[in-house]
Amino acid sequence: MAAKPVAKQAKRLVVLVSGSGTNLQALLDEIAATGTEAYGAEVVAVGADREGIEGLARAERVGIPTFVCRVKDHGTREEWDTALAEAVSAHEPDLVVSAGFMKIVGKEFLARFGGRFVNTHPALLPSFPGAHGVRDALAYGARVTGCTVHFVDDGVDTGPIIAQGVVEVRDEDDESALHERIKEVERRLLVDVVGRLARNGYRIEGRKVVIQ
Ligand code: GRF
Repeated sequence: MAAKPVAKQAKRLVVLVSGSGTNLQALLDEIAATGTEAYGAEVVAVGADREGIEGLARAERVGIPTFVCRVKDHGTREEWDTALAEAVSAHEPDLVVSAGFMKIVGKEFLARFGGRFVNTHPALLPSFPGAHGVRDALAYGARVTGCTVHFVDDGVDTGPIIAQGVVEVRDEDDESALHERIKEVERRLLVDVVGRLARNGYRIEGRKVVIQ
Protein backbone atom coordinates (compact mmCIF):
# COMPACT_ATOMS: atom_id res chain seq x y z
CA MET A 1 0.00 0.00 0.00
CA ALA A 2 1.34 3.42 -0.91
CA ALA A 3 2.30 5.58 2.04
CA LYS A 4 -0.06 8.44 2.73
CA PRO A 5 1.59 11.74 1.80
CA VAL A 6 2.52 13.64 4.94
CA ALA A 7 1.00 17.14 4.97
CA LYS A 8 3.73 19.76 5.01
CA GLN A 9 3.78 21.67 8.26
CA ALA A 10 3.35 25.41 8.01
CA LYS A 11 6.55 27.22 8.91
CA ARG A 12 6.57 29.19 12.14
CA LEU A 13 7.20 32.93 11.76
CA VAL A 14 8.16 35.38 14.46
CA VAL A 15 7.73 38.95 13.18
CA LEU A 16 9.62 41.88 14.74
CA VAL A 17 8.17 45.40 14.49
CA SER A 18 8.86 48.93 15.76
CA GLY A 19 6.04 50.97 14.31
CA SER A 20 2.75 50.90 12.47
CA GLY A 21 3.06 47.26 11.41
CA THR A 22 1.43 47.51 7.98
CA ASN A 23 3.88 44.93 6.62
CA LEU A 24 2.92 42.61 9.47
CA GLN A 25 -0.75 43.27 8.65
CA ALA A 26 -0.17 42.34 5.01
CA LEU A 27 1.27 39.00 6.14
CA LEU A 28 -1.63 38.40 8.53
CA ASP A 29 -4.21 39.30 5.88
CA GLU A 30 -2.64 37.03 3.28
CA ILE A 31 -2.39 34.10 5.68
CA ALA A 32 -6.02 34.62 6.75
CA ALA A 33 -7.19 34.83 3.13
CA THR A 34 -5.11 31.94 1.76
CA GLY A 35 -5.08 29.67 4.78
CA THR A 36 -2.03 28.70 6.79
CA GLU A 37 -1.42 25.47 4.90
CA ALA A 38 -1.68 26.98 1.42
CA TYR A 39 0.45 29.99 2.35
CA GLY A 40 2.96 27.70 4.04
CA ALA A 41 3.55 29.75 7.17
CA GLU A 42 1.85 31.20 10.23
CA VAL A 43 2.77 34.08 12.52
CA VAL A 44 3.29 32.49 15.94
CA ALA A 45 4.44 35.64 17.76
CA VAL A 46 5.17 39.33 17.25
CA GLY A 47 8.00 41.07 19.09
CA ALA A 48 8.94 44.73 19.42
CA ASP A 49 11.64 46.94 20.87
CA ARG A 50 9.08 49.37 22.32
CA GLU A 51 5.61 49.38 23.83
CA GLY A 52 2.40 51.02 22.72
CA ILE A 53 2.81 50.65 18.97
CA GLU A 54 0.19 49.77 16.42
CA GLY A 55 2.29 46.82 15.24
CA LEU A 56 1.76 45.10 18.60
CA ALA A 57 -1.92 46.06 18.71
CA ARG A 58 -2.48 44.41 15.31
CA ALA A 59 -1.18 41.12 16.73
CA GLU A 60 -3.10 41.44 20.00
CA ARG A 61 -6.37 42.03 18.16
CA VAL A 62 -6.10 38.62 16.49
CA GLY A 63 -4.81 36.80 19.57
CA ILE A 64 -1.19 36.37 18.50
CA PRO A 65 1.24 36.36 21.46
CA THR A 66 3.46 39.44 21.70
CA PHE A 67 6.61 40.37 23.59
CA VAL A 68 8.60 43.56 24.09
CA CYS A 69 12.36 43.68 24.55
CA ARG A 70 13.63 47.21 25.18
CA VAL A 71 17.30 48.16 25.03
CA LYS A 72 16.92 50.42 28.06
CA ASP A 73 15.83 47.51 30.26
CA HIS A 74 19.22 45.84 29.79
CA GLY A 75 22.65 46.77 31.12
CA THR A 76 24.43 46.45 27.80
CA ARG A 77 23.53 46.13 24.15
CA GLU A 78 24.87 42.55 24.23
CA GLU A 79 22.52 41.67 27.09
CA TRP A 80 19.61 43.13 25.14
CA ASP A 81 20.63 41.12 22.09
CA THR A 82 20.74 37.89 24.10
CA ALA A 83 17.37 38.66 25.71
CA LEU A 84 15.85 39.32 22.29
CA ALA A 85 17.30 36.07 20.95
CA GLU A 86 15.82 34.17 23.93
CA ALA A 87 12.41 35.80 23.57
CA VAL A 88 12.31 34.89 19.87
CA SER A 89 13.66 31.36 20.49
CA ALA A 90 10.86 30.68 22.96
CA HIS A 91 8.47 30.62 19.98
CA GLU A 92 10.63 28.16 18.01
CA PRO A 93 10.51 30.01 14.69
CA ASP A 94 11.61 28.60 11.35
CA LEU A 95 11.96 32.15 10.01
CA VAL A 96 12.22 35.52 11.76
CA VAL A 97 10.94 38.54 9.84
CA SER A 98 12.06 42.07 10.61
CA ALA A 99 9.15 44.14 9.28
CA GLY A 100 10.06 47.70 10.15
CA PHE A 101 12.11 46.62 13.21
CA MET A 102 14.41 49.57 13.74
CA LYS A 103 17.24 47.88 15.64
CA ILE A 104 20.46 46.24 14.54
CA VAL A 105 20.75 42.82 16.14
CA GLY A 106 24.05 41.51 17.51
CA LYS A 107 26.21 38.40 17.53
CA GLU A 108 24.07 36.19 19.71
CA PHE A 109 20.92 36.84 17.69
CA LEU A 110 22.72 36.15 14.42
CA ALA A 111 24.37 33.02 15.84
CA ARG A 112 20.89 31.62 16.45
CA PHE A 113 18.95 33.02 13.51
CA GLY A 114 21.52 33.82 10.82
CA GLY A 115 20.37 32.47 7.46
CA ARG A 116 16.73 32.59 8.54
CA PHE A 117 16.36 36.23 9.54
CA VAL A 118 14.67 38.27 6.79
CA ASN A 119 14.51 42.07 6.68
CA THR A 120 12.68 44.50 4.48
CA HIS A 121 14.35 47.80 3.62
CA PRO A 122 12.75 50.79 1.84
CA ALA A 123 15.43 51.34 -0.82
CA LEU A 124 17.20 49.42 -3.56
CA LEU A 125 20.21 48.02 -1.73
CA PRO A 126 23.15 48.39 -1.81
CA SER A 127 22.06 52.03 -2.34
CA PHE A 128 20.80 53.93 0.67
CA PRO A 129 21.20 51.50 3.58
CA GLY A 130 20.46 52.56 7.15
CA ALA A 131 17.56 54.16 8.97
CA HIS A 132 16.75 56.85 6.36
CA GLY A 133 16.68 54.96 3.08
CA VAL A 134 13.75 56.91 1.67
CA ARG A 135 15.02 60.35 2.72
CA ASP A 136 18.53 59.57 1.46
CA ALA A 137 17.34 58.42 -2.00
CA LEU A 138 15.23 61.57 -2.33
CA ALA A 139 18.06 63.86 -1.22
CA TYR A 140 20.45 62.16 -3.64
CA GLY A 141 18.12 62.85 -6.54
CA ALA A 142 17.60 59.19 -7.46
CA ARG A 143 14.90 58.80 -10.15
CA VAL A 144 14.04 55.25 -9.13
CA THR A 145 14.14 53.67 -5.73
CA GLY A 146 12.13 50.87 -4.13
CA CYS A 147 12.46 48.14 -1.56
CA THR A 148 14.66 45.16 -0.85
CA VAL A 149 13.88 41.97 1.03
CA HIS A 150 17.12 40.39 2.19
CA PHE A 151 18.67 38.09 4.75
CA VAL A 152 20.33 39.88 7.63
CA ASP A 153 24.06 39.52 8.18
CA ASP A 154 26.37 41.39 10.56
CA GLY A 155 26.43 44.58 8.50
CA VAL A 156 23.80 47.29 8.14
CA ASP A 157 21.47 46.17 5.32
CA THR A 158 24.29 44.24 3.64
CA GLY A 159 23.00 40.65 3.64
CA PRO A 160 22.12 38.52 0.59
CA ILE A 161 19.27 39.99 -1.44
CA ILE A 162 16.18 37.84 -1.96
CA ALA A 163 13.98 40.18 -4.03
CA GLN A 164 13.54 43.83 -4.92
CA GLY A 165 10.71 46.07 -6.10
CA VAL A 166 11.12 49.30 -8.05
CA VAL A 167 9.29 52.57 -7.45
CA GLU A 168 9.69 55.74 -9.55
CA VAL A 169 10.46 58.98 -7.77
CA ARG A 170 8.09 61.81 -8.74
CA ASP A 171 9.10 65.46 -8.91
CA GLU A 172 6.53 66.39 -6.30
CA ASP A 173 7.51 63.62 -3.84
CA ASP A 174 8.35 64.34 -0.25
CA GLU A 175 9.66 61.62 2.06
CA SER A 176 6.26 60.59 3.32
CA ALA A 177 4.56 60.39 -0.11
CA LEU A 178 7.44 58.40 -1.54
CA HIS A 179 7.59 56.08 1.47
CA GLU A 180 3.86 55.36 1.19
CA ARG A 181 4.25 54.32 -2.47
CA ILE A 182 7.29 52.21 -1.58
CA LYS A 183 5.35 50.51 1.21
CA GLU A 184 2.59 49.47 -1.21
CA VAL A 185 5.18 47.58 -3.26
CA GLU A 186 7.07 46.44 -0.17
CA ARG A 187 4.06 44.77 1.46
CA ARG A 188 3.29 42.72 -1.65
CA LEU A 189 6.95 41.78 -2.06
CA LEU A 190 7.36 40.68 1.56
CA VAL A 191 4.20 38.57 1.48
CA ASP A 192 5.32 36.93 -1.75
CA VAL A 193 8.90 36.28 -0.61
CA VAL A 194 8.08 34.92 2.84
CA GLY A 195 5.48 32.57 1.37
CA ARG A 196 7.90 31.27 -1.26
CA LEU A 197 10.71 30.78 1.27
CA ALA A 198 8.34 28.90 3.55
CA ARG A 199 6.71 26.72 0.88
CA ASN A 200 9.65 25.96 -1.36
CA GLY A 201 12.71 26.09 0.88
CA TYR A 202 15.85 27.93 -0.16
CA ARG A 203 19.61 27.96 -0.03
CA ILE A 204 22.06 30.82 0.30
CA GLU A 205 25.10 30.50 -1.98
CA GLY A 206 27.43 33.34 -1.13
CA ARG A 207 25.47 36.46 -2.03
CA LYS A 208 22.86 34.56 -4.03
CA VAL A 209 19.61 33.30 -2.59
CA VAL A 210 18.08 30.41 -4.49
CA ILE A 211 14.46 29.64 -3.73
CA GLN A 212 13.83 26.02 -4.68
C1 GRF B 1 8.95 49.88 6.08
O1 GRF B 1 9.04 50.73 4.96
C2 GRF B 1 10.28 49.28 6.41
O2 GRF B 1 11.04 48.94 5.30
C3 GRF B 1 10.91 50.42 7.15
O3 GRF B 1 9.89 50.91 7.98
C4 GRF B 1 8.64 50.67 7.35
C5 GRF B 1 7.78 49.91 8.32
O4 GRF B 1 6.45 50.06 8.01
N1 GRF B 1 12.10 50.02 7.84
P1 GRF B 1 5.31 49.26 8.81
O5 GRF B 1 5.61 49.41 10.30
O6 GRF B 1 5.32 47.85 8.36
O7 GRF B 1 4.03 49.97 8.46
